Amino acid sequence: MRISEKPLAARLKELGVELHAGVSLSEKTSLGIGGSTDELVLRRFDTIPEVMRLLADEKIPHRFLGGGTNVLIDDGELPWVVLHLPTSQPGMRVEGNAAYVDAAADLGGMVTFCAKRDLGGMEGLIGVPGSVGGALRMNAGAYGTQIGSYVREVKLYRAGERKIEILRGDQISFEYRHTSFAPDDMMLAVKLELPSKPYQEILQGIRLCNEKRRASQPLGQKSAGCIFKNPQGGSAGRMIDELGLKGTSVGDARVSDRHANFFVNAGQASASDMLTLISNVRERVQQAYGITLDNEVVVWNA
Ligand code: EPU
Repeated sequence: MRISEKPLAARLKELGVELHAGVSLSEKTSLGIGGSTDELVLRRFDTIPEVMRLLADEKIPHRFLGGGTNVLIDDGELPWVVLHLPTSQPGMRVEGNAAYVDAAADLGGMVTFCAKRDLGGMEGLIGVPGSVGGALRMNAGAYGTQIGSYVREVKLYRAGERKIEILRGDQISFEYRHTSFAPDDMMLAVKLELPSKPYQEILQGIRLCNEKRRASQPLGQKSAGCIFKNPQGGSAGRMIDELGLKGTSVGDARVSDRHANFFVNAGQASASDMLTLISNVRERVQQAYGITLDNEVVVWNA
């Protein structure tokens, strides 16, 4: 979707929006997959409702892209613009046991920022790639920790109400890789309450999680983390591994040799290659175990 030539572009600029024309989203995602479209960087929170009203009036479809680490985006010219928050110098501050962090901040960066101020609890999240906003939306978790447990307030643009609101933690439901946010709500900032812990102790926990992750996940390769959610009481990775599917590929989309629930882009994989691989593996698991695996990765079909 190209809007750079439309009169709307000038109005968006007045509202502090930075327009990048014809961006290849393969460069914005950890999978290295995705077609092209115009990107709008929302530099001023206070104008977001007005920007969203303009897009709605002009019937311009849009999607919100965070860190791009848990999304599989279609190939080719995409039918929506992507909205993005500026990632340079996101706000982070600590007051007592509370941490106030902008959604555009890097999740790992936030964990270490808090650790250095003797606030712990989030050690398990250290190697989870992505933004704080993406982690909130998905209730990111690892090694027994999930971000939702520490959330006290979320500032967000509520698509349904078309305004910026603050929700208390107890107004949001955080479940396994699922939250009660609407799909087009846009996370803006969060207040977390974290337990006090000496930095050195937090550091030990962080090192342990890093070691476990390095030993079991294909960290240097292009992936979106786990492709499927674990079924209740089971492990998608173990089931796919038991079926001997490590190394199976469609084009350059490949089931990782290291962790069978990670599908990697080993070269020039297209979204179509990856989607075919996902559907083939789902089918094999369904036939062998009678379980239909749900996607953990968010798929943006054009
Ligand atoms: N396993 C295999 N073969 C494999 C992979 C795993 O046999 O190829 C076995 C392991 O040996 C272990 C069990 O399956 O006994 C579970 O594996 P692991 O400890 O790696 O955890 P997981 O359930 O596969 C989950 C999360 C990860 C998170 C880790 C660590 C999901 C879908 N995945 O993986 O999150 O990093 O636990 O806590 O919940 C993600 O969300 O993208 C993600 C990678």
